[in-house]
Amino acid sequence: MRLSERALKLAPSATLEVVAKAKELKREGKPVISFGAGEPDFSSPPAAIRAAKEALDRGETHYTPTSGIPELKEAIQAYYRSHFGLDYQPGEIVVGAGAKPLLFEALACLLNPGDEVVVFAPAWVSYVEQISLCDGKPVIVDTAANGFLPTPDMLERVITPRTVGLLLNTPNNPTGSVYRKELLAEIASIAQAKGLWVIFDEIYERLVYGEALHRNILTVSPSLRDSTLIVNGVSKAFAMTGWRIGYALGPKALIEKMGSIQGHLTSNPTSISQWASVGAIREAEPEVEVMRKAFEERRRIILEALSHMPHISVTEPDGAFYVFVDARKCLGKSYRGKTITDDVSLCKALLEGEYVAAVPGSAFLAPGYLRFSYSNSVEEIEEGMRRFGKFLAEL
Ligand SMILES: Cc1ncc(COP(=O)(O)O)c(C=O)c1O
Repeated sequence: MRLSERALKLAPSATLEVVAKAKELKREGKPVISFGAGEPDFSSPPAAIRAAKEALDRGETHYTPTSGIPELKEAIQAYYRSHFGLDYQPGEIVVGAGAKPLLFEALACLLNPGDEVVVFAPAWVSYVEQISLCDGKPVIVDTAANGFLPTPDMLERVITPRTVGLLLNTPNNPTGSVYRKELLAEIASIAQAKGLWVIFDEIYERLVYGEALHRNILTVSPSLRDSTLIVNGVSKAFAMTGWRIGYALGPKALIEKMGSIQGHLTSNPTSISQWASVGAIREAEPEVEVMRKAFEERRRIILEALSHMPHISVTEPDGAFYVFVDARKCLGKSYRGKTITDDVSLCKALLEGEYVAAVPGSAFLAPGYLRFSYSNSVEEIEEGMRRFGKFLAEL
């Protein structure tokens, strides 16, 4: 079958094999504990469900304006104003079917073939695939040696005349690292000096712990406003992954073009989900805080358990709901007669031996690491960690 070069260059997901295996074992009735999910395990807030039901009863079941209903744009506008002190007009906001398609639309608007975009690894894998799909070139900068945070020098070294922009994700998936204000200011000043776009993915912004503070890059460097696209959504903070609502805020010219692409791609995001998101953003901040506190407690429990385990090390995450475990010392060891060659075979052995599912770091451009999501119950975390400890002791 003849397929386009574009389709053929898409890498198969490194997570798929482990996820499929976990599902198969579960179907067979095995006691699988999964740390694989990229979503909260909580229910969506009652305010979202109520707003969705009311929208259905009112008959809000038709096309809406492509870039989102005014009520949702107003709720987003009010949140950004009160929370960050940032002023965006409705014409500078586009609502999409999740943050994911909005990132794609932005890249499609910004990249010509061969243009380069800097991505700091470990990174959410869709970034590089989307850049490639838009015929751009992802320039990957490994931050592992610096506690999963870039330095200004790392960024400056990779900028070429073809560099169009950079993707920043704080709090980060998969590492949970949170960029401090000073680092954001340094990155912003390089971006400004070199005329680069900043795509600022802050989808985990409400989920930070301990002393950590999330900063929006524009609150640190307001002069970057004309070359920054903020990406956010209801998926992670409000436990609304299935509703598929994300939003982007940026300069009008870019937002309008993104809206045009969306008009030819999906049209508006689902009308009912948009109304659910209005309910969530207007009324459900107290529920977000309850979920954040629960994540904070689970984070404490999982970090405490991991701190006693052999062969691994952990950089304490400050946000999101992931722990990124350095398991490079496990490679080359054997488990029940089989050699562990890489993070994928490590995940497979852990799943087959102890029925514990984690995501291999190579899915995030970080081979040798494992991502554990703590979006499951305390009991599951405790039992899963007991089994992971037993697995490591057997290596
Ligand atoms: C860093 C990051 N950005 C964006 C997304 C996309 O979220 P959604 O499309 O559900 O809004 C995810 C989801 O996993 C993510 O981890």
